[in-house]
Amino acid sequence: MKIYLGIDLGTTGLKAVLVKPDGEIAAVGYREYPVLVPSPGYAEQDPRDWWRALAEALGDAMRDGGAAPGDICGIGFSGQMHGTVLLDAAGALLAPAIIWCDQRSVPEVELVRKTLGMERLGHLTQNPISTGFQLASLLWVKKHRPEVYEKIGKVLLPKDYLRYRLTGEYGSEPTDACSTLLFDCRERTWSGEILSAFGIDPAILPKLGKTPMETAGELTPSAAAELGLPAGIPVVYGGGDQPMQAIGNGILTPGDASVTLGTGGQVFVPSPKPSYDPTLRTHTFCHGPETLWYVMGATLNCCLAQNWFFDKVIGERDFAELHARAAKVPMGAEGLYFLPYLTGERTPHMNPMAKGMFFGLTLGHDRDYMTRAVVEGISYALRDAMATIETQEIRVNRLILSGGGAKSPLWRKILADMLGRPAYTTTMREEAGVGAAICAMVGTGEYATLEEACGRLIRMDPEPTLPDGEATAFYREGVETFRALYRANEPLFR
Ligand code: XUL
Repeated sequence: MKIYLGIDLGTTGLKAVLVKPDGEIAAVGYREYPVLVPSPGYAEQDPRDWWRALAEALGDAMRDGGAAPGDICGIGFSGQMHGTVLLDAAGALLAPAIIWCDQRSVPEVELVRKTLGMERLGHLTQNPISTGFQLASLLWVKKHRPEVYEKIGKVLLPKDYLRYRLTGEYGSEPTDACSTLLFDCRERTWSGEILSAFGIDPAILPKLGKTPMETAGELTPSAAAELGLPAGIPVVYGGGDQPMQAIGNGILTPGDASVTLGTGGQVFVPSPKPSYDPTLRTHTFCHGPETLWYVMGATLNCCLAQNWFFDKVIGERDFAELHARAAKVPMGAEGLYFLPYLTGERTPHMNPMAKGMFFGLTLGHDRDYMTRAVVEGISYALRDAMATIETQEIRVNRLILSGGGAKSPLWRKILADMLGRPAYTTTMREEAGVGAAICAMVGTGEYATLEEACGRLIRMDPEPTLPDGEATAFYREGVETFRALYRANEPLFR
């Protein structure tokens, strides 16, 4: 049996996804690890937990899939983006990883904005900067932990640390390196100007592969012994979780777009050129193929906000049942609105101080109305992200919904209505892990190109959820109230 291993290093856990060359998932192993919060606003992880999770999740998947160690033909990665893993000159960990949702670096974000100005930052990186991005986290370490900063031999992104443990080689590649903000997406290389503007030694950055499909090294004998695999298995660079989920959904053509309903929500639209939003409300990052980029609207509070409401407010977790009941509530929940900005917001507000709120409560509202308002509020935020992308003259023809939230018929209908387009799903599960495995298939020659692999492996669900014109008109008015609520309350959030 031939099998490719996609390692999906997420924020709450790691999945080892075993994929056959025809796209069939042989097995998935999963292990969770904690987000460490040593002070309010901090978000750290212990990279040794990632390694343990990999060994255990892989062991489960191999057993469940009936796979023999010799079956694994290649290994690829999908990684949580933006984060910071610090190693000393000998490759030993210097500190816990500071991950993407860490919010300690507000002053460093301000420093970058002030030092460069929006225009220069956009010109050099094509992106806004947020807390948790590697540049901001590195500047925080430089200022607050100078004794650690001095010892840095290499700084890596999360999945690049795991690859280092597998191959003994330091490396990164454009789809994840772009998320550090130390990177010029147009040229697909580290930005010398950013490095010198902030006094960062280029020697601490890893060398860059050209694409996620390129071979980065092979499994070392010691890593092989720890994982129960044979040494010498080819390991490709892999990529950031956003482009990997896009590859797992077959999104490689301008005109296609995905909306991912995960912890955060992302609107992802491929672009043939590295054009960017001059007001820096969206991201322009590198896609897998060397001549493709994508524009992304990132919202921070998608399933995160919904799960907060289910767990902490109503104390119920039956997602399907709660959505079925909310589907019986009229559209617009009789004037009840929810702003989902529980952890601040990236697109379009770029405001870490934004807050969540319900507006319009009456005695007629109950839990089901509130559930509907929560799902609608999160969806309005995604509609805002899509609208921000569309101001950049980027066209969207086909909309593909992915992530855990896309399992809900109610959520699919609300998004099809709000975005005024048929909403497709693919028959693929584990999109990011499958995207990682596809990169390994292309890198080892199983398929010649990503396009060929995706064309062969990924099928669109033939029956999309269709929008209803009246509902689209209703939500077109509703979004104006949703936006007015943010505008009116924004001064109070500070
Ligand atoms: C992308 C983003 C997330 C993280 C965490 O900008 O913030 O996709 O990579 O999964």
